[in-house]
Amino acid sequence: PSHIEGRLITDSYLKNMLSKRNVNSEKRDFGSCLIIGGAKGMAGAVIMAGKAAWRSGCGLLMICADEDNRQIIQAALPEAMFISFEELTLETIQKARSIVIGPGLGKSQKAKELLITTLENAPENIVVDADAINIYSSLEEPPKLPRKSIITPHKRELERLIGPTHGYEDLLNKQKAFSKFHGVILVSKGPYTQITDNLGCLLVNTSGNASLAKGGTGDVLAGIIGGLLCFVPKNISAAALGVYIHGKAADEWVKSGSDGSLSPLDLINLIPTLLKT
Ligand code: APR
Ligand code: MG
Repeated sequence: PSHIEGRLITDSYLKNMLSKRNVNSEKRDFGSCLIIGGAKGMAGAVIMAGKAAWRSGCGLLMICADEDNRQIIQAALPEAMFISFEELTLETIQKARSIVIGPGLGKSQKAKELLITTLENAPENIVVDADAINIYSSLEEPPKLPRKSIITPHKRELERLIGPTHGYEDLLNKQKAFSKFHGVILVSKGPYTQITDNLGCLLVNTSGNASLAKGGTGDVLAGIIGGLLCFVPKNISAAALGVYIHGKAADEWVKSGSDGSLSPLDLINLIPTLLKT
C-alpha cells in the first residue's frame, strides 16, 4: 500500500556494499562463521547453510551438529571444521565472527540448551532461523535476543513468534513492534520478504520467485546472511543483501530452468557470479 513508508531493496540500494579484498588480506580478517543445527537425520540443513556461508565470503567455517552426522558433514563440506553438540564451548561461541543457529536443529532438550547458551553468549552477528525460532517461541522465559540479531521466520514461524496476524498491515505493525521491543532485525520471509529493524525501518525485497517454494531454500538464505555478517559492516545491510542475492539467484535459475526443478544447491552455485556483479 502506498501509505506505508518503506524502501525497496534493489540493485541501486545495494550499490557499493561490497568492496574488493585488500592485497594483504588474511583469512582471519574475514572471520569465522559458526553454524549450529543438523540434528540426527537433518545433516542436509547445515550442509546447505554451510556451503552458502562459504560462498558468501566467510574466512573460516565451523559446523556444530549431532555427533551422528560427523562423517556425512565432513565428507560433504570439507571446507568446514566439525564439532558435535557436546563439544561446543563458550569460547567457540564467543570467538565466532558470526553465528547461524537453527537449520535442522530439532526441538530436543539438547537443542533447547544449545539455543539458550548461544543466545546468552553470542555476539550481535547472529542469525536465528527455523527450529531456533520455534524453540524460542515456546520458552516461558526466553533469554534476551542479542541486539541487532537477525531473525528469519517464514509465515508460520513468524506467527509463533509474534502471534496470529490478520492481513498485511496487521502483520507489518506486529512485526515492527517486535523488532523495536527486542531491538532486532526481523526478516519475514515469503514473496516480497520484508525486513524491519529496531529503528522502525522497513525494507521490502524485490527479487525472487515461486521456484524458491521448496524445502532447503531457507537454510541457504540463513547461510548466506551468516557468511555476509562476517564482513558486511551493518547487520541490516547483511540481511538486505542476503535476501536480495538469494532471490536474484532464483531469478537467474528460472531463465533456463523449470521453476519446479530448483534445488537449494543451485542457488549456492549462482552466488559467486551474483556477488561479483
Ligand atoms: N516467492 C518468493 N520467495 C519465496 C516463495 C515465493 N512464492 N516461497 C518461498 N520463498 C522463499 C522465502 O522468502 C524464503 O527465503 O524461500 C525461502 C523459504 O524458506 P523457509 O520457508 O524457511 O524454507 P526451508 O527452511 O528451506 O524449509 C525447510 O525448515 O523451516 C523449516 O518447517 C520448515 O520443513 C521446513 C524446513
Ligand atoms: Mg526455514
